[in-house]
Formats: sequence, structure tokens, C-alpha cells
Amino acid sequence: MTVTASAPGKVILFGEHAVVYGEPAIAGAIDKRIYVSVEKRGDNEMNISSSHELRDGYPYVKAAAELTFEYIGDGCGLDINIDSEFPPASGLGSSAAVSVATVLAISTVLGGKIPKEDIARLGHMVEKKVQGAASITDSSVTTLGGVLFIKPKLEIVEAVNVREIPLVVGYTGKAGSTKELVESVNALRENNPEVLDAIIHSIGRIAVKAKGVLEEGGDMGELMNINHGLLEALGVGTEKLSRYVYAAREAGAAGAKITGAGGGGCMAAYAPNRQDEVAHAIEEEGGLPLIVSIEDEGVRIETG
Ligand code: MEV
Repeated sequence: MTVTASAPGKVILFGEHAVVYGEPAIAGAIDKRIYVSVEKRGDNEMNISSSHELRDGYPYVKAAAELTFEYIGDGCGLDINIDSEFPPASGLGSSAAVSVATVLAISTVLGGKIPKEDIARLGHMVEKKVQGAASITDSSVTTLGGVLFIKPKLEIVEAVNVREIPLVVGYTGKAGSTKELVESVNALRENNPEVLDAIIHSIGRIAVKAKGVLEEGGDMGELMNINHGLLEALGVGTEKLSRYVYAAREAGAAGAKITGAGGGGCMAAYAPNRQDEVAHAIEEEGGLPLIVSIEDEGVRIETG
């Protein structure tokens, strides 16, 4: 019997990088998913395949399988197939999504049940193991879905009560390495602690303010633009990302910023009533636009 689990990608609306230093962040699940199909084998081999080119050697899938075996206290040979509706390693949370979908699919095949809280925890452990450092942001959002306010110091995750957020994501076509970007921010901070700590703290204040704005149904564009400037200051911007950000704003987006680790990857624009125009403007600059909406459902078993 084949079991398929899926988990959504994510956009970080506010607070990437600063969240690694304990500041709050806001992220939302998107309506593009990764599917992990698992079937027991007669031997003890693990055979992994995918429709997209994922990272060499599938480190997230392998680590997720190992931790799931440990959690359930059982293991077996598996055929695992991965399918994705969005580009991997693009800053849209493919690593966390593939990790938590693998945990749910394998635990289900083994007849075990893992509460969502523990699926998120295992997903976070996988990311830390493979990347060195990771906040709980991506693993929480892809497990739970919706828009979340993350307070990493207390490991608190709160749902943000928000209606539809009209977004356009622009992909540069080049993956940024989260591990390397997190390390580069850390190096910049070591050389300039008094300056960097103030920037990181300001990003956290933006996330706190944005939560209120979102809950009141207000316009978060201005705060996104400020956040973008501060991400540039952290050194994770690129010329391409900036071009898409400015093109999106000129096409009528209320705000636009890098989303995720930067250094390539994606930007996101908040574009009420202007999604098509903004998508077109990003395309004109050579980017790959993706009109996305917030997905309420996190990791799940696909039936049928
Ligand atoms: C990556 O999606 C977001 C970062 O803040 C890293 C993390 O939170 O683990 C750059």
C-alpha cells in the first residue's frame, strides 16, 4: 500500500534571519505543496526518487526517516517518491515541507501516530541536523498551516487571525544556501555587534507591529518595505531580488521584500488587486512569478 503525505511551502512575511537570534517572525503557509509517497519494501533498502532535482543525496528525507524510525521504535525498507508544486531550495520552505511530509508518511506506513506538535519538532530536528542552525519557523508553518506568529525564545507559535493575503512570489531561479546565509549574517554580527543587534531588534519590532496590522485587516506594505531595507543591511540581498522588489512596487504592490534566507531564492510582494500586474512586472525582469494564497491546512495524508 502506498501512503502519500503532503505539506505546504511557506513565505516569511516578516522576521527572517532575526528569528535565528530570538526575535519574533510572521510566516504563512502557501497553496503549493510537496508530496511524499511511501511504500514498504520486502528488503531493508531505502530507494528515494523525485520529479524535481532536490539536494544531492536527499539529506532531509534520510534524516526524517531515521528520526521517525527512532520515534516509532520500528523501521523497514522503503520506496519514497517526492513530487513538488514549487521549486526546491527556493526560499519557500521545501526542506521543512519535505521533512514533515516524510515523517507523517513513514509513521503512517508503520501504523504509528505522531501528534502534530511532535511532527513539527521532528521537522525542526531534521533541519538543524542538515543545516546546522534553523529556527522553528519553517517546520511550524508547514506542519500547522495558516499564518503564524513565532516567538522562538519561548518556542511559542500563535495563529494570526487574518483573512486572505494577496501575494506574488518572484523566484530568481537560483537557490540561496540557507546555511551559508545564516553564517554570513553571523559573521557580520561578530564584526559589528552593536550595529547588527540594533538591526535585528528592529526587525523583531516590525514583526510585532505587523501582527497588529494584519489582525486589524490593515495594509502591511510599508512594514514589508522597511523589513526589506533591513535585510539588505544584513547583506542577504542580491541585485536580482532588488530589481524584482522595485518592479513589483512600481507595478502597484503595496509592499515587497526578500522572503526566506535571500542570496537568490525568492522575494514576495503584497499586492491587493494588483497580483496580475505585479506578476507580469516580475516576469519582465526575468523572474519566475508565482501567485500564491495562504493555505490553512498544514501537513496531511492525501486520500484517494
Ligand atoms: C529561512 O527560511 C529563514 C531563516 O530565518 C533561517 C531560519 O529561520 O531557520 C533565514
